[in-house]
Amino acid sequence: MEIPSDEREELREIAVALRRHLKTRAGAGIVALAKPAATTTTSPSSLAAGNVFDAPVDSSVGESKSLEELRASIGDCRRCKLWSGRTNLVFGVGNPRAKVMFVGEAPGRDEDLKGEPFVGRAGQLLTDIITKGMKLSRDDVYIANVVKCRPPNNRDPEPDEVEACEPFLKKQVDLVRPKVIVALGRFAVQCLLRSKQPITRLRGQWHEYEEIKLMPTFHPAYLLRNPGDKKLVWEDIQKVIEALKSA
Ligand code: URA
Repeated sequence: MEIPSDEREELREIAVALRRHLKTRAGAGIVALAKPAATTTTSPSSLAAGNVFDAPVDSSVGESKSLEELRASIGDCRRCKLWSGRTNLVFGVGNPRAKVMFVGEAPGRDEDLKGEPFVGRAGQLLTDIITKGMKLSRDDVYIANVVKCRPPNNRDPEPDEVEACEPFLKKQVDLVRPKVIVALGRFAVQCLLRSKQPITRLRGQWHEYEEIKLMPTFHPAYLLRNPGDKKLVWEDIQKVIEALKSA
């Protein structure tokens, strides 16, 4: 059967794009193709549909039995282009058995310099939420980001960067198995929920990530610019405190 030339051209373009995609994934140590996230959900607005996979990365990552092993398996990561601008890879901190896990977007300048998530001004506000609001210490909870290296000028992480890095977060969640995840800000929320809905619609309601209860709320950096919305975050955090009582 003769394939019309416009379809041939389209097929050629698909093949080129697929080859490029597989090459990127191979460079990232991703060897298996997995199905895209469930079709009823969508990726964050900054991510092209179908770019985020539930794929396992290197088998050593998948087989890690502890956070230390996972960190070791990530190594001096060059799976995406962010490695070239980082001072430190910011893996995550806190209690490996934490009941509550906070997930942000990506390290900023202070976090990059220190190698620890949420240590700048927004981090101080998050610490206040944890200590003054929840009456816990930072050592009681676990804190991580979707992307482990600082994007230049704090821009949003790009789809290939999320694709390379999110499996580490997924494994962190798998190892900590918190009772509740608090997703901080539009990017982390849309990414974890595979949703394009605005954070204003998603926050304050329970959702799920990997069968774990997830509460979306505003990012502390947003609260620094919009302190009037702190009361909404407090409402969200009170729901988390309630959920933790019965966990
Ligand atoms: N913002 C984030 O999303 N994560 C950090 O670690 C710091 C600031």
